[in-house]
Amino acid sequence: MNKKTIESVNVKDKKCLVRCDFNVPMSGGAITDDTRIRAALPTIKYLYEHGAKVILCSHLGRPKGEFNLKYSLKPVSVRLSELLGRPVVFANDVVGEDAKAKVAALKSGEVMLLENLRFHKEEEANDKEFCRSLSQFCDIYVNDAFGTAHRAHASTAGIVTYGFAHTAVAGFLIAKELECLGGAIESPRRPLVAILGGAKVSDKIGVINNLIDKADTILIGGGMAYTFLKAKGLNIGKSLCEEDKLDLARELIAKAKERNVKLLLPIDAKVAKAFPDPIDAEVPFRQVDINEIGADDMALDIGEETANFYAGEIRSAGTVVWNGPMGVFENKNFASGTYSIASAVADSKCISVVGGGDSAAAVQQMGLADKMTHISTGGGASLEYLEGKILPGIDCLNNVD
Ligand code: 3PG
Repeated sequence: MNKKTIESVNVKDKKCLVRCDFNVPMSGGAITDDTRIRAALPTIKYLYEHGAKVILCSHLGRPKGEFNLKYSLKPVSVRLSELLGRPVVFANDVVGEDAKAKVAALKSGEVMLLENLRFHKEEEANDKEFCRSLSQFCDIYVNDAFGTAHRAHASTAGIVTYGFAHTAVAGFLIAKELECLGGAIESPRRPLVAILGGAKVSDKIGVINNLIDKADTILIGGGMAYTFLKAKGLNIGKSLCEEDKLDLARELIAKAKERNVKLLLPIDAKVAKAFPDPIDAEVPFRQVDINEIGADDMALDIGEETANFYAGEIRSAGTVVWNGPMGVFENKNFASGTYSIASAVADSKCISVVGGGDSAAAVQQMGLADKMTHISTGGGASLEYLEGKILPGIDCLNNVD
């Protein structure tokens, strides 16, 4: 990584404004998955152990610029305090009187958390005056919010790009994400196998395009496989298809061939007559060869032969990068494709990097998280990174001299 980290600066007695991604799933006011809070602990601990005044900030949800109790970060401060085993002061506002008073009273080695940044519309608008207000809490700016690094918001980029924070460094989480995701695609142990799933080709075009130049094998699953299969002339019945992406699918197939990259598609599928509604509803289904999808069939998962075929590729991989489920894994009848892939990755000796979002959730659900080399805390951010895009929250940080 060519960016400076917190280890390169003297943080003692300094106000360190740390942008975290505490955008955690909540239900009825309770945090249902604290992975992102845990992921921020190494940076927070390092900072208070080195005598910094640690001022944390984050967004939670999309409250559209207004106070909404449902999106308060208060429960996060409580959980964080439990995990750290020390008090976390909570400010009831972001740049208002409460935050100012609490920052002024904060001693070296203490930790506080500001209220949800997105209670101000200026955060997402990357408003210059809001950046200036935030910077009053900032001798040193630390970005550790990998999950939000693809957003050019006030707290993720503007505070630095407008010139309000001259010392701007990465936290340990961002450093780890870049090392794992970047390492997997820039200097992989070969062969590099990319597993790409999810509903739409349009969501993954950028990733496929970027990885075609880097991977040895690309395994395609999920709803998007059927646009590719139709592009190859197969009948896909009522399966998901982006008609306007058929030409693009043909181009990607041709590009892979030209570059000698194996772009593999399902050879069988689990089909039903309709999409389950609600998503976990029991619907009759059967497994068919990929050439035997009927006119009123809808493919909702890869079949067993595909899962075995893909597992073979994964077994011989040096590195696996996985983004997107193989089917409608929220429904138990269509979860086995995704689960088989997760097991194959877990059993393989490869370096395994799982992009955030659904594939990360599937791996967690299966209890296989600790068998993966790295599970990204970023959904959209990891996708954009795999597309080869520049992430504003990282780009703005100080370069290594
Ligand atoms: C995420 O969960 O992907 C990040 O926290 C970013 O959230 P956003 O998509 O609301 O910007």
